[in-house]
Amino acid sequence: MSTNTIDIPKKVTTSTVQQMKQRGEKIAMITAYDYTMAGLVDAAGIDLILVGDSAANVMAGYGTTLPITLDQMIYHAQCVTRAVNRAMVIVDLPFGTYQGDELEALRSAVKVMRESGAAAVKMEGGSEIAPSIRKILSAGIPVMGHLGLTPQSVNKFGGYGIRAKAEAEAERLIADAKLLEELGCFAIVLEKIPAPLAAKVSEAISIPTIGIGAGAGTDGQVLVLQDMLGMNTGFRPKFLRLYANLAETIGQAVGSYIADVKDKSFPSPEESY
Ligand code: KIV
Repeated sequence: MSTNTIDIPKKVTTSTVQQMKQRGEKIAMITAYDYTMAGLVDAAGIDLILVGDSAANVMAGYGTTLPITLDQMIYHAQCVTRAVNRAMVIVDLPFGTYQGDELEALRSAVKVMRESGAAAVKMEGGSEIAPSIRKILSAGIPVMGHLGLTPQSVNKFGGYGIRAKAEAEAERLIADAKLLEELGCFAIVLEKIPAPLAAKVSEAISIPTIGIGAGAGTDGQVLVLQDMLGMNTGFRPKFLRLYANLAETIGQAVGSYIADVKDKSFPSPEESY
């Protein structure tokens, strides 16, 4: 019998993250939109990869997440799933593909799952989208909720400011989190809300919460990859920790390449056939 074993990494699933919450292990989530970056973050050991509709900003240069389409999200998700071995891949349902019509919501989620190979979808909102969430869950598709600052509603909020500072909105958010748990969501993103509120929600529900700008009391954290790598010099909110300065690194590397081409030192004889 051969002693050689292939070390196949164990896939992260909805039950993995549930167990992580139960044993108090924090969950690390990050966004990715392309094959190369997804492969790198998966190899680094990330638990969850979100193919966020922030692709509209980061990849396409739009000012909001509203313009990105379902087919564009599926394209990004396909690129990501082709690279990933271990992490669980979750795809944002984009604006206008699930609000208001549960059958359209189901069709959108089924299309994402069938065409991208992802493991779950994420949807922004609480009680107002409950029928859509229920319908998608009834088809066996895991749903991640998203409460607090929900960027698809930027025009309703009038900006990207902190949410649920007022008592009434905080109470609504807690009720929505409990509803999402009751419906059967496997996790909830809490974006840009006061840290004590995020901690309270995380204690009040048994499914994991993943925070962004929501303090240390959530069960996990998520950041946009290009933001935390310092590639987006124009975006420096208080919650963002920079883990690299790739804007500078890339600028220097490309600057050196340009100089080498111009002064004819690249390519050298060793770099030629
Ligand atoms: O689209 C996205 O990147 C997100 C995260 C910021 C949570 O929804």
